[in-house]
Amino acid sequence: MELAVVGAGYVGLVTSVCLSEIGHHVTCIEIDKSKVDQMKKGISPIYEPGLTELMVKNINSGRLSFTTNHLEGFENKDVIYIAVGTPENEDGSANLYHIDEVARIIAKNVNRDAIVVTKSTVPVGTNDRIQKIINHNISSHISVEVVSNPEFLREGSAIYDSFHGDRIVIGTNSEKAAKQLEEINKPFNIPIFITDIRSAEMIKYASNAFLATKISFINEIANICERVDADIEQVSYGMGLDSRIGPHFLNAGIGYGGSCFPKDTKALIQIAGNVAYDFELLQGVVNVNRKQQRILLDKLCDRLGNLKGRKIALLGLAFKPNTDDMREAPSIFISNELVKAGAIVYAYDPIAIDNAKQILDSSIQFVYSIEKAIEGADAALILTEWDEIKNMDFNLMSSMKHPLLIDGRNCIKIKDLNSYQIEYHSIGRSIVNSLKLEEVCQVGERK
Ligand SMILES: NC(=O)c1ccc[n+]([C@@H]2O[C@H](COP(=O)([O-])OP(=O)(O)OC[C@H]3O[C@@H](n4cnc5c(N)ncnc54)[C@H](O)[C@@H]3O)[C@@H](O)[C@H]2O)c1
Repeated sequence: MELAVVGAGYVGLVTSVCLSEIGHHVTCIEIDKSKVDQMKKGISPIYEPGLTELMVKNINSGRLSFTTNHLEGFENKDVIYIAVGTPENEDGSANLYHIDEVARIIAKNVNRDAIVVTKSTVPVGTNDRIQKIINHNISSHISVEVVSNPEFLREGSAIYDSFHGDRIVIGTNSEKAAKQLEEINKPFNIPIFITDIRSAEMIKYASNAFLATKISFINEIANICERVDADIEQVSYGMGLDSRIGPHFLNAGIGYGGSCFPKDTKALIQIAGNVAYDFELLQGVVNVNRKQQRILLDKLCDRLGNLKGRKIALLGLAFKPNTDDMREAPSIFISNELVKAGAIVYAYDPIAIDNAKQILDSSIQFVYSIEKAIEGADAALILTEWDEIKNMDFNLMSSMKHPLLIDGRNCIKIKDLNSYQIEYHSIGRSIVNSLKLEEVCQVGERK
């Protein structure tokens, strides 16, 4: 089928590549010319495992192309996907500027009947709004049907998820549109759930809110475990054995970040608020997540006291492993607080340094190895569980001023530390090689 995708970000580019891989002809339209120039040369503007290879393969097969020109991109297309960003407004609601803009652009540039498919995460009622904007601006002889098709991919495994997802949700009241979307997605061989538009929009927010709830829940349990000498790893495992609970999203740590959970939870609170419903549970989830990012800092201050002049190494900056995405990464808040406290911050990430440089404080020293980050450091904080960080050589820590490792992702196996003199703190697990209180007080003034 002839398809267009508007937006070549984490969702739009992956969608374009995967739809072309299953045999469709896809034109991906992106307003950022520098991205289009890169993609035309086979260079992906984002880091996503396996993306470049699949992108180059489909460019070479003639099924995938890129343009900045909407008119050219929509020519002869049966279906147009919208995959532009829906960032957060100051009040937490979803910003629909790009969505509205694309709806107007579609109306003015399509020259035949088409289906418009919204992949972007949009509040309930937005697809009706897109339909209205298009109907209002389009020539009377062309008809466009708007369908909701929320995206569930995870950054870091987006290509895998596109071919192995649990479900494809299609929201439409039109049988014809449903059939066409089923036909497009058939080669993915993933169960398709067809529902009405508003329920499809809600499924996306409810799913993200539920997963965020699991994370905040297990983080609260971890904080209690620390106080009652229980081990969160054991607790999560034991809980996850219950098929009603399941093992996923029960890893305690410094909380969720990224481009979806933080904004989508707040947007759902707003969506509820707009209909005079106070979503208290979800507000609690958001508050717990905010509090959780402080936890490593509290552990660090408890241990070192005043942080002024202390060298602190940050290991991992991206919001999760296998991505270069820094949006809402816990490293942003944590590094800002460290800088405010007068610490000298050295930061390492295998992939996200270029993006991090644009967001994090200019006083931060970015280095290109774990070794360089921790050399002479008073403490090292693990913020992202990249394989390279999980499997780091603990012998390197002998170059630190204090071999103090604070793991915000519980990614180090405690038994692996047995033969090292490393003081190790994590979330909801016991401290390894902890110093006695008198020694702690000698190291630094307590806050
Ligand atoms: N990132 C994820 O993991 C993920 C997962 C599921 C759903 N989503 C949702 O998908 C949507 C897109 O997210 P993203 O992370 O890919 O965003 P992104 O910011 O990475 O990409 C959006 C792209 O759209 C382009 N764009 C904006 N206006 C345009 C226009 N008029 N014409 C052409 N291109 C235009 C931007 O330049 C940008 O490259 C959001 O609603 C997000 O909530 C994201």
